[in-house]
Amino acid sequence: MFKGRDIISIKDFSKEEILHILDVAEEMFPIAEGRKKSNLLNGYIMGSLFFEPSTRTRLSFEAAMKRLGGDVIGFAMPTTTSIQKGETLADTIRTAESYCDVIVMRHPKEGSARMAAEFAKVPIINGGDGAGHHPTQCLLDLFTIRREKGQIEGNKIALLGDLKYGRTVHSLAYALALFKVEMVFISPPELQMPKEVVEECREMGAKITIKNELNGLEDIDVLYVTRIQKERFPDPEEYKKVAGSYRIDLKTLEKAKDDMIVMHPLPRVDEISPEVDKTKHAAYFRQTFNGVPVRMALLALVLGVVE
Ligand code: NCD
Repeated sequence: MFKGRDIISIKDFSKEEILHILDVAEEMFPIAEGRKKSNLLNGYIMGSLFFEPSTRTRLSFEAAMKRLGGDVIGFAMPTTTSIQKGETLADTIRTAESYCDVIVMRHPKEGSARMAAEFAKVPIINGGDGAGHHPTQCLLDLFTIRREKGQIEGNKIALLGDLKYGRTVHSLAYALALFKVEMVFISPPELQMPKEVVEECREMGAKITIKNELNGLEDIDVLYVTRIQKERFPDPEEYKKVAGSYRIDLKTLEKAKDDMIVMHPLPRVDEISPEVDKTKHAAYFRQTFNGVPVRMALLALVLGVVE
């Protein structure tokens, strides 16, 4: 079902397929923690091509591969490669695929992962394409919600922040729509969720409220906070207008449900005050860890080592 498949957009997966990935990730959990040893991917090589900065996505993919006994080649800075000499993305992918069994790539251009998948024979896993998609983050976000709240259905989930340029919230909104949860999109007016995402999610049966103010958190079960994607603003003046316009601190959380969790794909800039870290609400570092078992599951599935 998954062998040889590309992971480009969460929209390419059914709810059943998503749940299967999460179940495999659950089995990988003790290996991700280092409590159980595994050689499942011994002899396999993952190509890690990062054309854009990354900490969690790249490191957790590498950790996932290595904890399963596999190997990793790649680059974290395209400036050290022949791209610097003018080589095309197509030629870079063709070269990389001749050295490895699966490619994880992150690129600033929307659609780049889909394009790479068209000419690569090995599976391409999209680690983020511009403001487009971030399917593996989405899967680890779903995995986190299910682990923390017991299930995905039935939760009221608020997505807060840069909903315009944030690829993690685009992917997550589509996935949550499959689970028919209630969603609240909270952002400054300039950074609202793209219309097509809202419309499509509504057509899928999601109940969505759109707000420009950070209030009414009383009945929220999951608050998913995002950073303003400064690097995607065409005009720095536009960024200045919205910078620092929302922040979660102890005061914001006063009225929240006792068991509301705060998630964030990270990196954070100033949108979650560090004082929140030690509260029972903070789930973002556990969320970061969950990237390892989820990416283990994806690698093992697309390489056909587990079904
Ligand atoms: C996110 C990304 O790269 O889209 N980070 C991540 O993968 N954990 C979020 C962000 O950069 O704000």
